[in-house]
Amino acid sequence: MDIVEAIRSRKSIRGFRAEPIGQEVLKEILDTACRAPSALNTQPWEFFVLAGEPLRRVCRANVERLKSGAPLEIEAAESGFPRDSVYRRRQVELAKQLFRLMGIERGDEEKRAEWTERGFRHFDAPAAIIIVQDRSLSGAGALLDIGSVMQSICLAALQYGLGTCIARQGVFYPDVLREIAGIPESKRIVIAIAIGIPDWDFPANAVETEREKTEAITTWVGFD
Ligand SMILES: Cc1cc2nc3c(=O)[nH]c(=O)nc-3n(C[C@H](O)[C@H](O)[C@H](O)COP(=O)(O)O)c2cc1C
Repeated sequence: MDIVEAIRSRKSIRGFRAEPIGQEVLKEILDTACRAPSALNTQPWEFFVLAGEPLRRVCRANVERLKSGAPLEIEAAESGFPRDSVYRRRQVELAKQLFRLMGIERGDEEKRAEWTERGFRHFDAPAAIIIVQDRSLSGAGALLDIGSVMQSICLAALQYGLGTCIARQGVFYPDVLREIAGIPESKRIVIAIAIGIPDWDFPANAVETEREKTEAITTWVGFD
């Protein structure tokens, strides 16, 4: 696949077919993605790849926690933005589009809760890649590197006909992952990527997110 086409066609997939994904394919994707650049070639990433019964256990435990009102925990990459900002407006636009596609009315608390649970269930994907980072790494720099490997995984997956959804929702209960996947305390749990064959009949997979026009966010210097 052409590189530009891959970058332009990648989108978040939130509904997957049940077919399992072979370990060999996932390994090839990670092998490729690890060619991502990192500061000083430190490669500050490690992976726990879950499938089958352990992944189902994680999903069940996440949903139980969520329903019990357990507080969400962020071990890395906390992000925030002002309520009255362009960032908030973009978030609302995404939610509106997904709810429209899924037929969820604004006030339908039950369906909204079901939708949220889906994220905590890794979107029912047959596999989930959990990206972790050694706690000895400090500062935001190492997280920049996670961003590059994360996007590389999503792009490499396309070559195998696989879809992905990067999701913070998948790591909001780190102790669930620690216990079931055996992730040691010495590793910070950063982000999850749900991966599998896209179910193109799943309504939310028709999402077409907007992007700001390049001219609105770019200052050209020395190009007259
Ligand atoms: C760091 C990060 C965390 C994300 N967490 C979630 C999440 O928890 N749930 C979800 O449904 N999507 C999540 N996403 C997907 C974004 O919503 C999605 O990338 C964005 O809306 C752009 O849409 P696209 O990926 O289809 O181009 C996350 C993406 C990133 C990069």
